[in-house]
Amino acid sequence: MKPIYYGKQTIDKDDIDAVVQVLNSELITTGPKAKEFEKVIAKQTNARYCVAVSNGTAALHLGSLALLNKKDKVLTTPNSFLATSNSILYVGAKPVFVDICEDGSIDFGLCEKELKKDNTIKAIYAVSFSGKPLNQEKLAYLKEKYKVKILCDNAHSIGSTFQGCSDISTYSFHPVKNITTGEGGAITTNSKEIYEKLLSLRNHGMVKTDDMLPWEYEMTSLGFNYRITDFQCALGLSQLKKLDNFLEKRREIAKFYHDGLKNTPVKPMYDYDNTSAYHLFVVQYPFEDLEQKAQFFKDMQKRGIILQLHYIPINQQPYYKDLGYGNEKTPVMDKYYLQSFSLPIYPILTKEEQKYILQNLKECLSA
Ligand SMILES: Cc1ncc(COP(=O)(O)O)c(C=O)c1O
Repeated sequence: MKPIYYGKQTIDKDDIDAVVQVLNSELITTGPKAKEFEKVIAKQTNARYCVAVSNGTAALHLGSLALLNKKDKVLTTPNSFLATSNSILYVGAKPVFVDICEDGSIDFGLCEKELKKDNTIKAIYAVSFSGKPLNQEKLAYLKEKYKVKILCDNAHSIGSTFQGCSDISTYSFHPVKNITTGEGGAITTNSKEIYEKLLSLRNHGMVKTDDMLPWEYEMTSLGFNYRITDFQCALGLSQLKKLDNFLEKRREIAKFYHDGLKNTPVKPMYDYDNTSAYHLFVVQYPFEDLEQKAQFFKDMQKRGIILQLHYIPINQQPYYKDLGYGNEKTPVMDKYYLQSFSLPIYPILTKEEQKYILQNLKECLSA
């Protein structure tokens, strides 16, 4: 049996044909397919505008350039991939780590406490962790009451999340995500001003208008080359057609795990939720210490099941510790780090593999 990883792309002949078609055409980088992809993502997420970029980290970087100024304080979660808070550092702003709730997402109650204490906080960067939509009412309330900007990192949740109240939402199309473009990302917004800024930042900060000389362009800000190719966008468009089906499969697997783990000490992170995109299926077990947990990962690996942990608290990374982070009080995150791990979940995970995973999990944990 081949090793089973926690996530994997689902690519079929239609996807391959769509890519080949663009490779056989005149334009292979950011062109008509990118425009079409942006249109469909905007529709899918109920946003007015979308800018497709080279990856989810680039989306966060450009989002941060559009929203933040140097030294701005930003409330964010320790339970994410590094890129979420790194993007705050990229622009010289300051992440402030807030503990998480039982479902793995940032605790909005604690965010409000911080906002009450410190009226210089400028933004909240939240992650729709594992694919579960964030509570938009709470976010809208915090945005309105404390006049903060909102960025939702929706890297896990395409299909289940919408533009909502956020100023900017970002997406990743890395192969493990719910749809893939190989590498790729997108930024959505309802603001025309932000949209135009993002378009320019994606392309070296260049602006070209109809009244300019034929060869002319102006560089008005320090931008980047974060363009995405048209053959990646063709793949993305083909994948988007299957998104509903992918989500259905993910939810079926989540349901199967829920049922199979009943009456065991292995507890899913939250009750079965048919609004979650189930990018991740996180469970918790009362490990005594990290050594016991590491041994369990190794035992599972010997049986061909490569588990993952989402995530190591970002504020505990050496780079962040050197910046003075790491001593925040985050008891829920600390416990989460000890107890949690992610089971494999992706559309082409077979029923036999799902059964094999549960059987081995129970054996390795004597559950
Ligand atoms: C929550 C989150 N944010 C951002 C990213 C970065 O996306 P990318 O790998 O496309 O740069 C990821 C990807 O792993 C992610 O999971």
